[in-house]
Amino acid sequence: MTETVEDGPQHVKARVEMVRGMDQGGVVLPTRLAEAFLNTPRHPFVPAFYRREAEKFVPQHSTDGDLSRWLSQVYADDSLITEVDGVHAEDAGASPVEGVPTSSSTAPSLMADMLDALDVRPGTRILEVGTGTGYNAALLCDLAGAENVTTVDYSERLTRTAQARLGALGLHPVVHHGDGAQGVPTRAPFDRIIATCSVRRIPTSWFDHLAPDGIMVAPIKGALAGGMLARLKRRPDGTAGGHILHTPAAFMPLLSGKQQLCPVPEPTGGMSRSSELSGSVLDDWTFSFFAELHLNATTLREYHRETDGPHVTTLFDLRDGSCTRVTDQPEAPAVRVHVSGPRDLWAPIEKAHNHWLSLNRPRREWFTITTTPDVQTVTYTDPSGRPHHWAL
Ligand SMILES: C[S@@+](CC[C@H](N)C(=O)[O-])C[C@H]1O[C@@H](n2cnc3c(N)ncnc32)[C@H](O)[C@@H]1O
Repeated sequence: MTETVEDGPQHVKARVEMVRGMDQGGVVLPTRLAEAFLNTPRHPFVPAFYRREAEKFVPQHSTDGDLSRWLSQVYADDSLITEVDGVHAEDAGASPVEGVPTSSSTAPSLMADMLDALDVRPGTRILEVGTGTGYNAALLCDLAGAENVTTVDYSERLTRTAQARLGALGLHPVVHHGDGAQGVPTRAPFDRIIATCSVRRIPTSWFDHLAPDGIMVAPIKGALAGGMLARLKRRPDGTAGGHILHTPAAFMPLLSGKQQLCPVPEPTGGMSRSSELSGSVLDDWTFSFFAELHLNATTLREYHRETDGPHVTTLFDLRDGSCTRVTDQPEAPAVRVHVSGPRDLWAPIEKAHNHWLSLNRPRREWFTITTTPDVQTVTYTDPSGRPHHWAL
């Protein structure tokens, strides 16, 4: 596939406006990062994407309307969904589709926060897990030099397209089709590893492939809304330590092996009780990352709110089949909890919420993270000097 890139004054203006916008709100982009975003066009990587409309995703193509309207969407500081259930927007017709997004171009300001934390210099050897459109890989090429960049994606359709689009800009990093959970051993070691899909625990191979003093930025997310971004530095003894970034991030999950999206069932039988805590507390990203630390990694969540209806959240643990549904009610008791299976999955969240309040709602960036070959631990040390630990 040979692609040509049109990058006229309108495209450049849209790009400058985007970078100017990312610079507002008290956050100033480091000069080198601003240059990278100014140098790197986004539009060649997203000739089509989906616009979300309620439960549906509507394909938008660059050829659909006038250029300025299209550019205003491409150069907004928003994520652009490019694939739903494995169907790329470029392969979709005009009709809306339903499903789960499986690839996107991340919101530029979130990319900037992650690249800033990654601390990329010219010559730094980098692995990106989650090539997607290739736009972030292009930024990495600008920052480190294309010959130092390796990027991997699970989808052959995506790596093939990204490689062609990078090539059209004169960028030739190694674009690898494979399971990023395994890293890319043939190119290791890396001075930096950045993941743009989320994991519940950081795969061991990423530590194995990270050079001593190397830095990793990885989204950690389970079933709940607000994922966290971990920044870790590898120590000479093979362990790693670092902190959680202030930016919440809800990246799509790293899919590995036979793991597939599994539906959450209805709770059947069991018992019912009341609660003081609505399931909507899990929609609050400031609490949900803390709540996640109290759930098994095998827990799934489904939630919905009917029009003018109650908030309903269901937790299901694949490991033992426990299923708990939490429903808001218009009359007392305000919250009804239906528990089926061996364990009440709402009880640890109620406990976690009380603990979080007693700790005065600590911010995510006050938490640290350490890893050994066997254990990954998140820690908050309260103002009295007492550490609180959670295993991932
Ligand atoms: C948010 S998108 C990545 C965005 C990308 N960095 C960009 O600039 O467009 C997440 C990507 O992770 C990929 N992914 C999911 N599981 C993966 C795996 N096991 N290995 C590599 N990539 C994976 C998806 O195919 C998807 O393209």
